[in-house]
Amino acid sequence: MAKGTASAVASPNIALIKYWGNRDHELRLPSNGSISLTLGGLETRTTVSFDETLPSDRLTVDGSPPTNSALVRVSEHLDRIRHLAGIHTPAQVESRNNFPAGVGVASSASAFAALTLAGTAAADLSLNPKELSRLARLGSGSACRSIFGGYVEWYAGETHADSHAEPLAPPEHWDLIDLIAVISREHKGIGSTQGHTLADTSLLQSARVTDTPRRLNICREALLHCDFPTLASIVEQDSNLMHAVMFTSTPALIYWAPTTIELMQAVTTWRAEGLEVCYTIDAGPNVHCLCTKQHADQVEERLGHLPGVIDLLRAHPGGPASVI
Ligand code: PMV
Repeated sequence: MAKGTASAVASPNIALIKYWGNRDHELRLPSNGSISLTLGGLETRTTVSFDETLPSDRLTVDGSPPTNSALVRVSEHLDRIRHLAGIHTPAQVESRNNFPAGVGVASSASAFAALTLAGTAAADLSLNPKELSRLARLGSGSACRSIFGGYVEWYAGETHADSHAEPLAPPEHWDLIDLIAVISREHKGIGSTQGHTLADTSLLQSARVTDTPRRLNICREALLHCDFPTLASIVEQDSNLMHAVMFTSTPALIYWAPTTIELMQAVTTWRAEGLEVCYTIDAGPNVHCLCTKQHADQVEERLGHLPGVIDLLRAHPGGPASVI
């Protein structure tokens, strides 16, 4: 191939039932299934251009050259695409996020979903959404969920072939809002790829994994019936369970800051007062406050008044990743 160019857009996602730990790190086969909401309004746009005149792969993120490890990870993903297409051509990759980096939004999910779509389109491969989800998973586990819009379930599976995401309900099914309270912009010391390798050092991980089908069932049913109280309680329990595993890993992973706990307590109090809101926290200190659209403005106002909240992002159920 002399030159093939394509662009794609993808949104990050927030896990309602979280993926933490792998059965197979190489293939990113997760220890447990997970459920997420694709975050509309936040997006990564990526252009891939295969170009024989390039000496090696090039990458820019938001206009700047990235860290070396990011380039290596992107190149490895391009290798998977080149292998499928039977080509060896280097590529120029330009990626832009419309949300700030390091705000507790899983930018690797939108980044690898957009790279998978743009890369396969530029290489003239035609893959169906399930195949795209599997391929995206190899770049970043949670990216397999960002191929789809709305409410999404990733079936853990046993092998590469059966570990992929599928849509559970379209974005318009339930207009939940994710208010992301940013309390720190510092990059996390231990990223999720390394964090997954520590999960099994916690005594609590096996109990958490064994119980996951129960939490998935409750979450799935609550989503399908738009039952906020049930959703709130299982989402918070699942987030707390993942952080309990993190705290008790060797070395211990403590992503929370004092303000994280203040926010968790504030959200719990607001819910007791009648606001439909709950919290969930990924591998960082920032707090995702999920709420019904009806109560989103009130929650946003309260979050805006809390000392320690330095920024607030608002996302709604978003659409699938697409070639543009
Ligand atoms: O896809 P990764 O390797 O960035 O892992 C994501 C881990 C969590 O965000 C903490 C949970 C999840 O399911 O998204």
